[in-house]
Amino acid sequence: MAMNYSEKVMDHFNNPRNVGEIENASGCGTVGNAMCGDIMRVYLDIDDEGVIQDAKFKTFGCGAAIATSSVATTMIKGKSVEEALRVTNKAVMEALDGLPPVKVHCSLLAEEAIHAALWDYAQKNGIRIEGLQKPKDDISDRGVA
Ligand code: FES
Repeated sequence: MAMNYSEKVMDHFNNPRNVGEIENASGCGTVGNAMCGDIMRVYLDIDDEGVIQDAKFKTFGCGAAIATSSVATTMIKGKSVEEALRVTNKAVMEALDGLPPVKVHCSLLAEEAIHAALWDYAQKNGIRIEGLQKPKDDISDRGVA
């Protein structure tokens, strides 16, 4: 079956931004989807004001997971942790001019891994981030938003 990926998806798949690790990251989160077996890890560098200075990801995931994480990490850089929480998979998909319906779940991997990294940051610093829930390791039962 042929898939139609937007030019933006292809660009971020071929040249993913922010791939890598951050040493001594302020927050690091890993989530997976047991249905497809894909895994995503996000690292965040957050300054004393709670602003995300850097974001990187590593994935054992499909092309759509790579493209959405690439865009998502670009979108949260320079944002406060609260603003980063509002970068949903829908916003990421819009920034990519959409994804084929069967790949929508892949965009959740990025969103959830960012939440997991924010959770880790909040735990380490003993703070609560309004609206942030404890993330799951396996997001396969999360319906497609
Ligand atoms: Fe698993 Fe895309 S197929 S994240």
